[in-house]
Amino acid sequence: MPLIYAIFGLAPLEHALDTEAEPAAMRAAACGECHAAQYADWSASRHASAHSNSIYQAGLAAEPQPFCVRCHAPLREQGEEVLRNLDWYQSWGPHAEPGPAPTFEAEDFAHEGVTCATCHLRGGTILTPTETHALHPTRAAPLRDPELCAICHEFPFVSEGKYATSALMQSTFSEWRAWGGAETCQTCHMPGGRHLFRGAHDQAWLRQSVSVEVGRSTWTIRSVGVGHSLPTGDLFRHLTFEVERGGKWQVKAWIGRTFRTVREGGLLTRVLDADTSLKPEVPLVIRGAPGRWRLVYHYGSATDEARGLVPIDDLVVILAEG
Ligand code: HEC
Ligand code: HEC
Ligand code: HEC
Ligand code: HEC
Ligand code: HEC
Repeated sequence: MPLIYAIFGLAPLEHALDTEAEPAAMRAAACGECHAAQYADWSASRHASAHSNSIYQAGLAAEPQPFCVRCHAPLREQGEEVLRNLDWYQSWGPHAEPGPAPTFEAEDFAHEGVTCATCHLRGGTILTPTETHALHPTRAAPLRDPELCAICHEFPFVSEGKYATSALMQSTFSEWRAWGGAETCQTCHMPGGRHLFRGAHDQAWLRQSVSVEVGRSTWTIRSVGVGHSLPTGDLFRHLTFEVERGGKWQVKAWIGRTFRTVREGGLLTRVLDADTSLKPEVPLVIRGAPGRWRLVYHYGSATDEARGLVPIDDLVVILAEG
């Protein structure tokens, strides 16, 4: 059972990650004064831009829900900044022109996204991987346990502000457990304790994480060194394997999860329809006549690509072609 149920309350406006520290001391830059290496790695990571990046901002504009801050700007003080501006997001909406923002208040703490204090600070004490003496109060905590990551990287669909449905919207933790390999989230994503958190937005790493073997009338696609499904995470992530026919690209295989909407326990929710994502060590064989082909990674849905809130080059990348 993911810790999310214990850590987050069900009320959408509650922020359970209350850190009880002076706001200035909670800032990443304050930690960075003494922990320069972690600060530099983290600053370039997607955790640092979890609230400010353009794909998330477009998602929030399309679906401006208070609960989004629980994982994208999870400290209470960050959430408060965002919630003051939520009216602005709501008036912007998916179809409206981005208008002026008369009451838009600064979100500089929210713009730290998943920050040092999110993982390390509880009740004024710094959580450390092992017993340590430092210039600040510390307490050893199981930071190397994937349960830490599961807080945000595993959760069900939310319906009417409640986590009351059975289908998982993100299931990276379960996928990792089903794989059963020796490496953890931390050993792959924080090698040597580094705070890189590389993932699908690191395109060089993403390209290395998939291989395509071309046969006479087959293409065999595998994930390489990935301890969960590819794609994982956000429900809209998918890959398309395309072949050129008559000067046009045709989708031969759609790789990812698809969902359908149902009513469950009185709430409208989505359940898994099909999962064609690449599992570790399981090859996907595609048959067809030889010709030009390409494997494309999509960060968002077809709707995102059509809507144009985010430049298309930030939503689509060709991983391999031949
Ligand atoms: C004034 C300097 C200073 C500031 C500011 C500071 N730390 Fe530390 N911290 C230290 C020292 C010194 C140690 C012990 C030596 C070491 O391991 O670097 C330490 C240890 C740690 C450790 C344990 C390191 C280990 O080896 O196990 C963690 C985690 C940590 N700090 C996180 C933070 C976070 C998060 C912040 C900001 C909220 C922060 N620190 C702010 C100086 C500081
Ligand atoms: C998403 C959670 C997360 C965030 C955000 C995060 N850390 Fe950590 N931190 C960890 C984990 C997990 C470890 C233990 C890593 C290991 O040793 O495998 C760790 C270890 C550390 C250590 C001990 C270093 C070591 O090698 O043992 C320090 C110091 C530290 N973090 C500082 C920071 C600072 C400063 C920030 C912000 C700039 C930060 N962390 C942000 C999860 C996080
Ligand atoms: C408080 C919530 C939270 C916790 C805890 C957390 N993450 Fe994340 N993580 C996020 C969010 C939100 C994003 C998405 C940011 C975005 O792109 O909008 C993310 C993104 C990522 C990415 C994707 C980077 C990319 O380039 O696509 C990786 C990898 C990652 N996290 C690994 C981890 C690991 C490993 C841990 C545990 C040590 C962890 N996270 C703990 C919230 C969290
Ligand atoms: C064996 C190494 C390995 C392990 C273990 C692992 N990952 Fe990954 N992960 C990768 C690689 C490689 C990628 C880049 C390719 C991709 O996007 O799938 C990745 C990508 C990701 C992404 C980005 C996907 C996206 O949609 O942007 C997230 C988030 C992530 N991992 C989280 C986790 C979490 C949480 C765990 C533990 C429950 C974990 N990973 C365990 C290797 C690993
Ligand atoms: C329980 C935690 C959680 C909540 C609540 C949550 N997210 Fe996320 N979100 C994540 C994580 C973890 C990722 C990273 C997975 C990945 O990289 O695919 C993510 C990724 C995303 C992405 C993809 C960002 C990128 O860099 O490509 C978008 C867009 C997004 N979330 C929008 C939202 C919106 C809008 C809401 C509210 C309606 C929301 N999220 C609520 C955890 C959460």
